[in-house]
Amino acid sequence: MNPIQLFDPASSTYTYVLFDADSREALIIDPVDAQLQRDLALLREYGLRLVLAVETHAHADHVTSAGLLVEHTGARTAAPEACGIRTAALQLHDGTELSFGRERLRALHTPGHTAGSMSYFWESGGHRHVFTGDTLLINGCGRTDFQSGSAEALYRSLTEVLFSLPDDTVVWPGHDYHGRQQSTIGAEKRSNARIAGKSREEFLALMAGLNLPRPQRIAEAVPANLRSGLRHDAEEAELFGARAAQGYAGDVSPRQAWRWMEEGSALMVDVRTDAEREWVGFVPGALGIAWKQWPGMAPNADFDRLLLAAATPGKKIVMLCRSGVRSVAAARRATELGLEAYNVLEGFEGDPDDQAQRGHRSGWRYHGLPWRQG
Ligand SMILES: [Fe+2]
Repeated sequence: MNPIQLFDPASSTYTYVLFDADSREALIIDPVDAQLQRDLALLREYGLRLVLAVETHAHADHVTSAGLLVEHTGARTAAPEACGIRTAALQLHDGTELSFGRERLRALHTPGHTAGSMSYFWESGGHRHVFTGDTLLINGCGRTDFQSGSAEALYRSLTEVLFSLPDDTVVWPGHDYHGRQQSTIGAEKRSNARIAGKSREEFLALMAGLNLPRPQRIAEAVPANLRSGLRHDAEEAELFGARAAQGYAGDVSPRQAWRWMEEGSALMVDVRTDAEREWVGFVPGALGIAWKQWPGMAPNADFDRLLLAAATPGKKIVMLCRSGVRSVAAARRATELGLEAYNVLEGFEGDPDDQAQRGHRSGWRYHGLPWRQG
């Protein structure tokens, strides 16, 4: 059986869904955040239970949806150990086998595009497949000029690891910019313009002379992908020493904030305006202290005083706003005032969708947490 090949046009990224026909257990390789709903719909349509979300490397051109897929499906994240994606539940080494139903996927360490990059070999029903990420592309290969890339390492990975697979192995690349979908090891060995018939020195010279532009989303994508595409929660904020860097205690998911409120360890401060709370809705038990107020959205001069009056020693404060912007400012201010303050990710309404409607993609209400109106 072939994998299901999916495409993200914005980043020209291929995502692959592999499944075991009997158990309906599935695995996804290199999922893209913008395609989360498509991928969830596909899993539903095929009646699949996602067990693993696997990365070939920490991508620089798009953000993974692995973390979100896990929240929706209960799958586990898996990533090459040397990529430093510490949020991945499974850290993969060369030769690690991942199973879904009776199928097996084998990790091949193929450094070069990045130091941690892996390819995945899958033999099923007498057919061989290799998912090459950005290591081997159709008539090309990944760049090696940033993110721990190494042309020497890539030469070895291509010639000694991937080209030692049987010629009939189908190559499923991580990207294609010309609409090509698959190739074979034999075809790439014969005619890949970067590597076929090239000596090591020729390959190194070619790679050194590419002069490619910097990927547009690298500054945003790499840090996000080192966290499986999730903005971090409080536990990980501590793990990563992010406290000092961001000026407040950490970010928490809406669900985590509600758990803390239920167990009585946190007070929620809703920093939206009185009008927003009234019209849009509010969280029961939350205390309203506006960060800015109408008219004119001027800073609330009473913010510090009201916050300090409401704070209880030993109790965390979780800040909520509409979409998670004012709440960061408020959490920073609370931290300056000596309080342990967290930002609630996504806010009450979350990000707008394509129709500029909020509450359909993320946020407190989207997650089905308690709220009231009026
Ligand atoms: Fe890449």
